[in-house]
Amino acid sequence: MDHLTYTWWKEAVGYQIYPKTFKDGNHDGFGDLKGVIEKIPYLHDLGIDFIWICPFFDSPMDDNGYDVRDFYKVDKMFGTIEDFKQLVSICDSYNIKIVVDLVLNHTSDEHEWFQKAKQHEKHYEDYYFMKHASHTPTNWGSFFGGSAWERLADNTYYLRIFSKKMPDLNWSNPVLREEMYEIARYWMNLGVAGFRLDAIAHLAKDMNFANSTKPEVNGVAYDWSKFSNLPAAQTYLKEFKEHVLQPLSCFSVGEVGGGASVDDALEYVSYDDGKLNIVFTFDHVWCNNINTANSIEDLKIDAPKLKETLAYWQTSLFHKGWSSLYLNNHDFNRVVSNYGSVKYHNKSAKALATMMYFLWGTPFIYQGEEIGMTNYPFTSIDDFNDVQALEQYRNKPEAEKATFFTKLKLSSRDNVRTTMQWDTSTLGGFSTKAIGLLTNPNYQTINVASQLEDENSILNYYKQVIKLKKQIKTLLYGNIEFIELHPDVMCYKRYDEHQTYLVIVNLSCDKVSLPTPIDTSNVLLSNTHTSSILTHLEPYDAFLLQINN
Ligand code: GLC
Repeated sequence: MDHLTYTWWKEAVGYQIYPKTFKDGNHDGFGDLKGVIEKIPYLHDLGIDFIWICPFFDSPMDDNGYDVRDFYKVDKMFGTIEDFKQLVSICDSYNIKIVVDLVLNHTSDEHEWFQKAKQHEKHYEDYYFMKHASHTPTNWGSFFGGSAWERLADNTYYLRIFSKKMPDLNWSNPVLREEMYEIARYWMNLGVAGFRLDAIAHLAKDMNFANSTKPEVNGVAYDWSKFSNLPAAQTYLKEFKEHVLQPLSCFSVGEVGGGASVDDALEYVSYDDGKLNIVFTFDHVWCNNINTANSIEDLKIDAPKLKETLAYWQTSLFHKGWSSLYLNNHDFNRVVSNYGSVKYHNKSAKALATMMYFLWGTPFIYQGEEIGMTNYPFTSIDDFNDVQALEQYRNKPEAEKATFFTKLKLSSRDNVRTTMQWDTSTLGGFSTKAIGLLTNPNYQTINVASQLEDENSILNYYKQVIKLKKQIKTLLYGNIEFIELHPDVMCYKRYDEHQTYLVIVNLSCDKVSLPTPIDTSNVLLSNTHTSSILTHLEPYDAFLLQINN
């Protein structure tokens, strides 16, 4: 395989579904697989080629399904295995592939394996990291706050780098690995095209189990290097590839997180000896002042940093391994709120899509992004559902709770987990039954039904972005060159020996002058009307132009 070798996922556009809040098909108040089935025609019309569905396996829902109790069962909140089979067949008829979210790093503490491990059945104890000790085995901290070790009643500790209810699996155990491969084979046999591999950067742990020397906060050192992107993770994934991915021609996109360097990413996806097809890294979703902003109005994109980050990743991976493109997923706040502008809602949402999806790589659109859904107006800590937000909040000293609440309003994952806004009916057409899931009150103005009718809508713009991206080979495979016009302007060229395209996007609320006039007589897509010679950009102006070679 090399850059130009055809595979379906290089020319495909993906759409991520968070099933709990996408569409309620059986009217119990929760989103489900029946709801996904109902909306496949809509997704087909949008132009996407595959869906990635977040976990829908049997789960106590501590982390909304990422805590799996039984990998072979559909959770009753989401339906039945029959619903899943029906989804496969409907998707087939629309030529849409299904990518399942496979959680390899941990299970729920209610999983049968962990229940047996807790009873000290040796076979299952070895599936996890269990230590018999009189004190916490190491000072490692967990992503969700507090120690990464949890104590059971009999002084046994288990490792959990996410929530208390999500014990980490011990991938150094070949028997456990084979169990996980079998799960993957099971879903492949049901007709899925591949997997989004959850949290795989953490499959390998530092098996010396030595304390971190990083400074401690309340006795805990938040040192991700103890369990992120370690060499053994590559060995495990190589075996996974040989046993499952390759023989079953399985698509794979791995979540490798914020700590991954370009070299790490290439270990995962290089054309020479990568183990996976694509990875998700996080650097480009962290380019604003979210850590210092005090209110949503203060939130501001750091355009130079975003440009630098995207340029670095795009040029470093080019011709070496394939790339993913995304603005949003279920773990970050809404991109229009994070990087765009409420004042320029329509224009900024379109500008961000133009900036991102004509880069090279496979686009992944997150539910609601295509209509510009925004952050939720939280008023109380009781509004939050996310275990990460709640655990971190609990771990804060009393004096810091108010400030942390403000932070959560801006950054909490609950912002992207509000119900999908389909129309202006009650609950935005998500469900007929209110059970307390959050629906953003702005569904009256931001919703699918009204945007389908409005030719100037964000939704119709996304349709065009998707169409152009798939139609124009140069936008799929062409070279990329970044051009500096102004600190707030993203500009890049996609070209090959036949064609050249130029993307120009003003990422700010200000009018900016261009250093030299640009001929826009051949505009393929824009969120504005302009004269044929461009001398300046209005706020969030965005263009895809074809220019002479
Ligand atoms: C991944 C998921 C996130 C989840 C975590 C633990 O980062 O995207 O939603 O909480 O893994 O499974």
